[in-house]
Amino acid sequence: MSGGMRPTDDAAGVDGEGGGDRGERGGRGDRDHDGAGRLAGRLVALGITGSIAAYKAVELLRLLQSEGADVAVIMTQSATRFVAPLTLEALSRHAVESDVLALMPDGRIGHIALADAADAIVVAPATAHWLGMMANGIAGDVVTATCLASAAPVVVAPAMDGEMYGHPATRANVARLRDAFGYAIVDPELGSLASGQTGVGRLASLPSIVDAVVAAVGDRPVRSPDPATRPSPVPAAREADLAGRRIVVTAGGTAEPIDPVRFIGNRSSGKMGVAIAEAALDRGAAVTLIVGLASAPLPSRATVVHAESAAAMRTAVLEALGGHGTGAGSDALVMAAAVADFRPVLVADTKLSRGGPLTLELAPTTDILAEVARVTRGRDAAGGEAGPPLEPPPVLVGFAAETGSLARAPEKLRAKGIDLLVANDVAEAGSGFGTETNRVTVYARDGEPEAWPLLSKREVADRLLDRIAARLDERDRTRETPPSTRIRQETPS
Ligand code: PMT
Repeated sequence: MSGGMRPTDDAAGVDGEGGGDRGERGGRGDRDHDGAGRLAGRLVALGITGSIAAYKAVELLRLLQSEGADVAVIMTQSATRFVAPLTLEALSRHAVESDVLALMPDGRIGHIALADAADAIVVAPATAHWLGMMANGIAGDVVTATCLASAAPVVVAPAMDGEMYGHPATRANVARLRDAFGYAIVDPELGSLASGQTGVGRLASLPSIVDAVVAAVGDRPVRSPDPATRPSPVPAAREADLAGRRIVVTAGGTAEPIDPVRFIGNRSSGKMGVAIAEAALDRGAAVTLIVGLASAPLPSRATVVHAESAAAMRTAVLEALGGHGTGAGSDALVMAAAVADFRPVLVADTKLSRGGPLTLELAPTTDILAEVARVTRGRDAAGGEAGPPLEPPPVLVGFAAETGSLARAPEKLRAKGIDLLVANDVAEAGSGFGTETNRVTVYARDGEPEAWPLLSKREVADRLLDRIAARLDERDRTRETPPSTRIRQETPS
């Protein structure tokens, strides 16, 4: 190789753009995914490292799928700069792992779950840097860590600058992977390289890499036939099944003032409510998001109403349900906010000064959900008739923050008079306040409780919206009435 500047390892890819792999799709691998391919029923981990040839991994993924494989992608951080994880996630229908410390939504360590379940790991392209790390057992990235943690056969397809591939260090690393580790090496080919030179370093043809994976798997038994033990698929995008629906969501915690600088608050981040709002927006709903104190970023597509105290949230909810005076009611209310049950009776006008002990007298706040449920049904607080019920009635959903046991949830559902109550144990790791995930049990006014596994808050949101959408469809089938008229407000307690 001549002198001059050379791309660094991570940028040192091969091939160029004209691609010797073009036109190869008509080969053995080009087959519709009909479950009858040579990798049918197999889980293949596709490791991508930071080479220009990383773009070819997209096509490799599709070829593996066309052989019937379920493919989950793992990437080094530098690989994510060459090809977007989103592309690979969309095509593989699995979350793409690029962080060796990341947990899956269900709390499992992603690369360990994949290492345990994969029938084969294929690293393509493999850079000189990655070969060196792997040959020395340094688990600094998710691809190396997965290989180290796995008993699955490993196929490695190097791709880099020709001089780099010929360097004694690289040769020694490749030899170690092949001879000491038993990895199958698919040698790079001679061709034009990203540097503009010609040499041996081009990623091997994709069908030859697929063939090497098929050979490596051979007739070994499927390692993890149970889908529950495999990395879970990314949920399919929902349809716009809430188009034309108006949904009110509350999020965050309320703050009950003690004096101008202090308040009684709680640990809600707003993530659960925001996930519901975003999922509803993605499904076509018009969303009013009523937020207390929240650290989660708020969706700009929603109509956002800030309401810090329980009293302010009550007013905002009743107004939003009435359509802000437009006469157009809402189809559903989902109260994910952590609303204070008590507020200080007296709020000091000036900052309370430090002195002896301070006793605060607290009074119960109005139960917003219970009031909305009563008004919806045309009842007053004593259970008497207060006017015509709201037609059509909105679907009312509450959340219940419990600690240690969900035993109180069914009574909460009944006492509030709502349709669904989503109970979470906020003392459980990965559930409740501030987490990305939640484990909930959904109680229905008219059905059996359903316990869902630990899921991302977004997946909880989508599953909950599935239930709400079904209730709204059922409601509309049995009515031919126009949307709700304005909700009436009771006098606050
Ligand atoms: O915001 P995150 O950090 O993502 O955390 C999410 C969460 C833990 C806050 C959420 O999942 C949750 O559990 N929200 C409800 C918390 C709560 O207030 O639970 P509760 O059991 O005290 O109240 C039951 C229901 O009544 C809730 O829907 C609440 O909004 C509603 N309520 C409560 C008091 C009140 N005065 N009026 C109400 O309407």
